[in-house]
Amino acid sequence: MATQTKILTQHIDVPGIDTLAVYRQHGGYAAVEKALKTMSPDAVVEEVKKSGLRGRGGAGFPTGMKWSFIDRKSGNPRYLVCNADESEPGTFKDRYLMTRSPHSLIEGMIVSSFALEAHLSYIYIRGEMLATMRILEKAIVEAYAAGLLGKNILGSGYDLDLFVAPGGGAYICGEETALIESLEGKRGNPRNKPPFPAVKGLWQNPTVVNNVETIAATPWIINNGGEAYAAIGVGRSTGTKLISACGHINKPGVYEIELGVPVEEFIYSDQYCGGIWKGKKLKAVVAGGSSVPILPAQLITKTAAGENRLMTYESLAEGGFASGTMLGSGGFIVMDEDTCIVRNTHSFARFYHHESCGQCSPCREGTGWMEKVLHRIETGQGRMHDIDLLVDVAKKIEGNTICPLGDAAAWPVASAIRHFRDEFIWHIEHPQEATQPGAVYRGEAAIA
Ligand SMILES: Cc1cc2nc3c(=O)[nH]c(=O)nc-3n(C[C@H](O)[C@H](O)[C@H](O)COP(=O)(O)O)c2cc1C
Repeated sequence: MATQTKILTQHIDVPGIDTLAVYRQHGGYAAVEKALKTMSPDAVVEEVKKSGLRGRGGAGFPTGMKWSFIDRKSGNPRYLVCNADESEPGTFKDRYLMTRSPHSLIEGMIVSSFALEAHLSYIYIRGEMLATMRILEKAIVEAYAAGLLGKNILGSGYDLDLFVAPGGGAYICGEETALIESLEGKRGNPRNKPPFPAVKGLWQNPTVVNNVETIAATPWIINNGGEAYAAIGVGRSTGTKLISACGHINKPGVYEIELGVPVEEFIYSDQYCGGIWKGKKLKAVVAGGSSVPILPAQLITKTAAGENRLMTYESLAEGGFASGTMLGSGGFIVMDEDTCIVRNTHSFARFYHHESCGQCSPCREGTGWMEKVLHRIETGQGRMHDIDLLVDVAKKIEGNTICPLGDAAAWPVASAIRHFRDEFIWHIEHPQEATQPGAVYRGEAAIA
């Protein structure tokens, strides 16, 4: 097996790496020295563009391009906001990085804020992650004391203040415009776009919102060059990605992979998930956090055309919604043969109903209906037309809301029915059997 480049986690197991002294002993803050003392903000943006780095928060938007949209002409203050809300079920990579190596994020924040010519930046962190918040705050105090934050950083003439802001306690506050509203002290409701945050964001000023992992990748890009980063990975999926792997596997945890690892290798090799637990068979995978379409075993390791599926944005999406999925946030949820897809879909639907902010009727009403109908099927009271009713409700939500939470709620339901319709039918036709504890449908089709 080829050795994998580690960009974000190379020193993560070094004792004391959360302290400034040890972080510096391992090359920490070299990118700040280089960027602030030898490069212009535009040159940093160019390097990130060259790297092909794409946003790691879920959508995979090219970071350098996003940075170049920021309005520099208005003369208004610019802000960088780090999205550390991380509330997507199955995703736990950002907290791992921030807790173990807080200076990786702080260094990235300095480099990225410099590129955007921002002088005030925030890390908006999920409110429940109190311990991680304290770790970040301690690291920020260390950075101020060492002249890495505040006025005239390292004598470069560049000033930056950095604050940690606790989140508003809702999944929706991870959506970038809801996050901005929440940061302004308001209820976290997504804004209509345009205007996009790059033009009117925090306090109506130009703002970039980036994920923790995206920002933490920038020091390596500055130290090693955008081209070196672009040389890792496959095609437009450059660099490395943190994958939080959970569910029915032997080795759950956070893994840094070079984009392009075959999905099969990721699931079965001892370097990563170590195979399905208890010697069981694989039934399905949700590859990129609860929002992305679920894929049955036979479509997650191979595309519908029979090609090996790779851990890249493009390969996971191969086949569109008919037979593909998304890399998303990298929350990789593995389900063994004993998993009930109806129960799992109901559980996801309950989450999205609870988390819908209620602004858009299709999402507010639709998520409630999906939860109710799935509950009906799961508890043995389903009717055969409920299956198509769910598909219809999902279609009416998709694309009809201000923010993508609606899509995120619709896709898990629509894809579960697309690939596991037999299982839904079995639940409706065998209500007594299906409602027994531990009951599971064992149709041939779903099990590899
Ligand atoms: C409901 C919802 C929740 C989201 N939660 C997060 C989150 O916790 N962290 C994150 O980085 N992006 C999240 N996003 C995506 C953000 O809106 C945004 O695209 C991202 O922070 C941009 O950063 P990136 O370009 O570095 O990926 C969420 C989106 C939606 C619709």
